[in-house]
Amino acid sequence: MDQLNDSVVTEFVLLGLAQSLGMQFFLSFFFSLFYLGIILGNLFIVFTVILDPHLHSPMYFLLANLSVIDVGLSSTTVPRMISDLFTDCKVISFHNCMIQMFFIHVMGGVEMGLLIAMAYDRYTAICKPLHYLTIMNPKMCMLLVVAAWVIGVIHAVSQFVFVINLPFCGPNNVGSFYCDFPRVIKLACMDTYRLEFVVTANSGFISMGTFFFLIVSYIFILVTVRQHSSNDLSRAFFTLSAHITVVVLFFAPCMFLYVWPFPAKSLDKFFAIVDFVVTPVLNPAIYTLRNKDMKVAMRRLSRQVVSSREMN
Ligand SMILES: *[C@@H]1O[C@H](CO)[C@@H](O)[C@H](O)[C@H]1NC(C)=O
Repeated sequence: MDQLNDSVVTEFVLLGLAQSLGMQFFLSFFFSLFYLGIILGNLFIVFTVILDPHLHSPMYFLLANLSVIDVGLSSTTVPRMISDLFTDCKVISFHNCMIQMFFIHVMGGVEMGLLIAMAYDRYTAICKPLHYLTIMNPKMCMLLVVAAWVIGVIHAVSQFVFVINLPFCGPNNVGSFYCDFPRVIKLACMDTYRLEFVVTANSGFISMGTFFFLIVSYIFILVTVRQHSSNDLSRAFFTLSAHITVVVLFFAPCMFLYVWPFPAKSLDKFFAIVDFVVTPVLNPAIYTLRNKDMKVAMRRLSRQVVSSREMN
């Protein structure tokens, strides 16, 4: 018999984030504000980088790409989370649940790839300054971005193929406010121990490995700078601390969600919110408010907008 015929579950039930009406209003206000901030802040970065020729360098192209992914990542869950706050019956169709899981991992995987690319870009700029422009040429830059997308898609597909054919025959309470592999797998009507290991390995160990790899790379860059001159150290540290902050903020929740063997109910909701709501809004803040070139470019851009308006 076809495996698909076994599955009678056509929809999953999501968990609400708040019970009381006051809390629902507070959270929807809070999340809407953040989501607006995510969209405006990140689109602002993308337009500033595209419109200002001074920012046409690998570092800013990668940053703009990261902004696009941040919007994508939060859009996989936040709009639904806001609208679900006010519905009593939080059901998600089987298809939408699968689509949500798939895109969370595509976007998460691309973000991971871009963070590695950005670390490589800083390594080249700081440790091999004379060869920076020849190494990070436009072709290389494009290659890194394409590679990040390939990583993201492979990462998502390699978990998705196991889940899409699972038999779901009864229990359909996901136990979180969005669909994700660890939770959905537990609802399948079979022994999922091995599958859980696949997901832990693919999402958990990879994010843990990438996290330590990135932290070690940044320490390596700092040590290299220190050997050459102590003057540059504070400047390099200033740039790199922004990158390190983003890396920690992004990977700490990932590691907790996928590696931690005993998921605590309220804590994992909190960590998921950090990755979908807080990190995407902090990226633009961290990279722009602390970055002189970016601030200058924004001022230039706003002057242009004002003067073009005066001419009309
Ligand atoms: C992403 O990176 C590529 C390669 O450098 C660049 O051509 C493109 O403009 C970037 N995308 C955005 C939205 O800036």
